[in-house]
Amino acid sequence: MANTAILKIDGKEYELPIITGTENEKAIDISKLRQQTGYITLDNGYLNTGACTSAVTFLDGELGILRYRGIPIEQLAEKASFTEVAYLLIYGHLPSDKELQDWDKELTMHTLIHEDLKRLYNGFPKDGHPMAIMSTMIGSLSTYYQDSYDPENPDHRHISMVRLLAKFPTIASFAYKKSLGQPTVHPMNHLDYCSNFLNMMFSVPSEEYYIDPEIVKALNLLLILHADHEQNCSTSTVRLVGSSLANLYGAISAGICALWGPRHGGANQEVLEMLLEIKASGLPVKKIVEKAKDKNDAFRLSGFGHRVYKNFDPRAKIIKKACDAVLSRLGVKDPLLDIAKELEEAALKDSYFVERKLYPNVDFYSGIIYRALGIPVNMFTVMFAMGRLPGWIAQWKEMIESPDMKIGRPRQIYTGATNTAYDNAKKK
Ligand code: SDX
Repeated sequence: MANTAILKIDGKEYELPIITGTENEKAIDISKLRQQTGYITLDNGYLNTGACTSAVTFLDGELGILRYRGIPIEQLAEKASFTEVAYLLIYGHLPSDKELQDWDKELTMHTLIHEDLKRLYNGFPKDGHPMAIMSTMIGSLSTYYQDSYDPENPDHRHISMVRLLAKFPTIASFAYKKSLGQPTVHPMNHLDYCSNFLNMMFSVPSEEYYIDPEIVKALNLLLILHADHEQNCSTSTVRLVGSSLANLYGAISAGICALWGPRHGGANQEVLEMLLEIKASGLPVKKIVEKAKDKNDAFRLSGFGHRVYKNFDPRAKIIKKACDAVLSRLGVKDPLLDIAKELEEAALKDSYFVERKLYPNVDFYSGIIYRALGIPVNMFTVMFAMGRLPGWIAQWKEMIESPDMKIGRPRQIYTGATNTAYDNAKKK
């Protein structure tokens, strides 16, 4: 098996090393290409370009495989808790019972936010999008911890990771409560991660709030399924910002904004809005599918297609199955689920989608469950971010701790005006 590739340019041959990963993925190492040949590569949207090696998550888009630190997502979804998966992603192994207990306790002790930070919420309009609020609040956390956010200090790295994981649910629920004009509910140390979040989101001081174990279970599942996904857009953003040695709060704040986009994590909100529009329009699903295929129409089927999965997104399969189970356990009948299933069936029979290998992705069904859990639509992408936070942190930590970390700085091919004198350029 060759371990070099030969590149021939103008009759001259150049040997480039071939890198092989533990799952037998192959890459041509071009780190010396420009120095040897004067050439760079060009790859719009990085469809063919690896930015790093990583041991955190493996996915195979052709086979629909997803594993966190080698463990299949299906097994983690069934057996693990979200904080356990967070530990696995960040530290590279499943925690022992004692390690998990200590981890949960450590996170619990950092769930409160500074009272002054709460005042920032008053500056946002009531209908401000929660993703804008989350990015602002998470970035602002750094102003309270300036003495402990040096990415090159291991103790600072640890406490920053703990504070972010612990405070994210508090900050998210406060954003929701402020949008309702309801009093914020503080975290309770006797509650687990997901129960605490539900209590902060939905309880009110004037009455007891029953934390439904079925909802806690469903929330754990959804957060686990979103926890990491190798070098997606928002993770690559976190890595790029972190590579300048900006602090972790700033890198995560940037990642939240990248995730917000409708082509990325924002798709889960788009899917629900699309399903609501389809229901309201009364249009047959077939018509919607035709619209999604029409090149002259900007409409796309949100929740469909994926840069890497050219087969079923394994997470979508798990969530679709969970939809039926969670809705029936909660006694919820949601017509949007029937529309989603009809849409999926129609699309997967249509050659346009089959030829382009467009399948439902993680965002297609997740909103149905969030809706059944009582999460408002404009908070769906915040839920995605809460799930993805440990993955962002794990990928950032892996990069910061790697001995050969470099600041990320892509090249370009210039196609603008060539050398032009000012006087010639000045309009007469
Ligand atoms: C996430 O990367 C990750 O891992 C992301 C993620 C994660 O966990 O981090 O998995 C989470 O972001 C999932 C994706 C959520 N986004 C959506 O559901 C939005 C709808 N999907 C598309 O916008 C699109 O499929 C992308 C953005 C997801 C992927 O886009 P690509 O890989 O750049 O592919 P493309 O846009 O070039 O599309 C290829 C073809 C095009 O048609 P042709 O030019 O070949 O004729 O497929 C078409 C597209 O028009 N197409 C769709 C479509 N998605 C792609 N047509 C209709 N409906 C769609 N949803």
